[in-house]
Amino acid sequence: MATSETVQPGDVTQRVGVEVIRARGVDVDKLIKMLVANAGAEFASTYYYYTILRMHLAGHEDYKEICEDARLEDRAHWELIVPRIYELGGSLPNDLKEFHDQAGCRAAKLPDPPTAVNILTLLLESERCAIRSWSAVCDMTFGKDPRTYDLAARILNEEIEHEAWFIELLAHERDGKSIPSGHFRRGEPGEAPYSKNRRFYNP
Ligand SMILES: [Fe+2]
Ligand SMILES: [Fe+2]
Repeated sequence: MATSETVQPGDVTQRVGVEVIRARGVDVDKLIKMLVANAGAEFASTYYYYTILRMHLAGHEDYKEICEDARLEDRAHWELIVPRIYELGGSLPNDLKEFHDQAGCRAAKLPDPPTAVNILTLLLESERCAIRSWSAVCDMTFGKDPRTYDLAARILNEEIEHEAWFIELLAHERDGKSIPSGHFRRGEPGEAPYSKNRRFYNP
């Protein structure tokens, strides 16, 4: 039972929101590190580099549209998770390079040559890294830290969709194969139905 009640009335140096999840067995310092690494992946190794990758899909307007959804949703993921880092008593590095270097996924740098197949392969593998990273946060918080779990699960829902989108596009572009993602279009770019709690496309 999480009732140690060590936080005294008026004490602003301790947090009951941290005390209760620690009492349930969450390693809060480790969780903060994972969240900073994941925030770094969302912002630095995907959102930033997806901007460049999308530019180089010139001529493939359909691929650009999907890439734009994935890009803007990664920005939404960054914005969704950053407040949680601070609530847990953590903070972001005050140095962008340091932040970038501790990202949990490899930077999605423009491949050489920047063909559609190479770009789509990179996008697919970035989404797979995100699925693994957010699943690890879900595993660590399930049944113990409902708020972090909820945020991570919302992000994971979208990362799984992103993987399916890029499987569809890469299979089409590289192999001439049809492997549908099975999804309907977003209402507008960056809709992020799970992480922004928007309604699903339902005309
Ligand atoms: Fe993401
Ligand atoms: Fe993604």
